[in-house]
Amino acid sequence: MDAPVIASRKPYYAVLKKGRPYRWCRCGLSKKQPYCDNSHEGTGFEPMIYIGQYDGEEVLFCGCKQTGDSPMCDGTHANLEGGYQRDDPNTPENRAIPETRDQVDGLTLLDGGCYVFSPAKARFAELGNLRFCTVISQGQGAIHQSQFYAEVSGQPGPIVMLGESDGILFVGGGEGTIEIAGRPFQVQRTDGVYVRAGEGFRAVPAEGQTLKLFISALPAIAALEVEPDWPSAFDASEPERVVRVDAGQRKAMGERWFQMLADKAVGCTGKAQFIGHIPFSKAEPHRHLYEESIICLEGEGMMWTETKKARVRPGDVIFLPRKQLHSLQCVSEGGMEVVGVIHPGDNPGINY
Ligand code: FES
Repeated sequence: MDAPVIASRKPYYAVLKKGRPYRWCRCGLSKKQPYCDNSHEGTGFEPMIYIGQYDGEEVLFCGCKQTGDSPMCDGTHANLEGGYQRDDPNTPENRAIPETRDQVDGLTLLDGGCYVFSPAKARFAELGNLRFCTVISQGQGAIHQSQFYAEVSGQPGPIVMLGESDGILFVGGGEGTIEIAGRPFQVQRTDGVYVRAGEGFRAVPAEGQTLKLFISALPAIAALEVEPDWPSAFDASEPERVVRVDAGQRKAMGERWFQMLADKAVGCTGKAQFIGHIPFSKAEPHRHLYEESIICLEGEGMMWTETKKARVRPGDVIFLPRKQLHSLQCVSEGGMEVVGVIHPGDNPGINY
């Protein structure tokens, strides 16, 4: 056998025990996927041993056997023929799922803690000249990330701290400077920015501009804090902190694509931000092992969970808990542009 057989175009979810060896089938012939049953004999392939790291470790073992991160799925299957499936929104089962329009202060609840939030309809608070609303919080069920939508006009904003959490910012509008621990970084619309835990940042809009920021704190924090002075020095071991949209950095995921913004390339590990494109289509329902926020930049969509669906418009944010079954449908002919933040995890191309 020159190449392994594709056992599945989806990964296998498993919960492991600490110290136990798992024999991942590499040839694809086993009838006990994802584990070896010795069907490989004579093929030249051997199983790969993976030792469980801790009790309750949740993993996604590769099913297509073509991953670049053996034995775990790295999303390669999505680019194999038949690896990225669409769902038909007009099946009888899907047509029976009603659109929910119940909204309180911009919040539309779906199943399992998933929701769509419209900052445009939210109540804003103020920290000096920083106007903000809470988009994702522990109070709304988040564990791994919080998110705030904020606007700063005129004078520089206050120095904002995110407790012991890392910060990932997305510039939703305007241009100017983000100062991180006192160091200036020029930013414009659609830039991603990474702020290390403890550094703090402030927004300095350019003349006549309003800087519009989506501020994510990872892990989740209770509230934004303001300090009169920079509390710590800039971590110069990671001097690059702004990532700009660059079509040359796009990665295909079936008929979708994404580009990483703030991620490990700028020192942001175990969590990541990306910008992506969704064509006019509905994804097959799936789950992720990470918690995710999805900002809708352009185009309209419909977010589906088991028994509900809700409209998503530009400026809206979707909160998606870990392991929640869902499907994001793009209902605009020209497609949707979205920005996601995921944690824990750093690869938005993995689902099951
Ligand atoms: S059966 Fe596939 S590696 Fe053993």
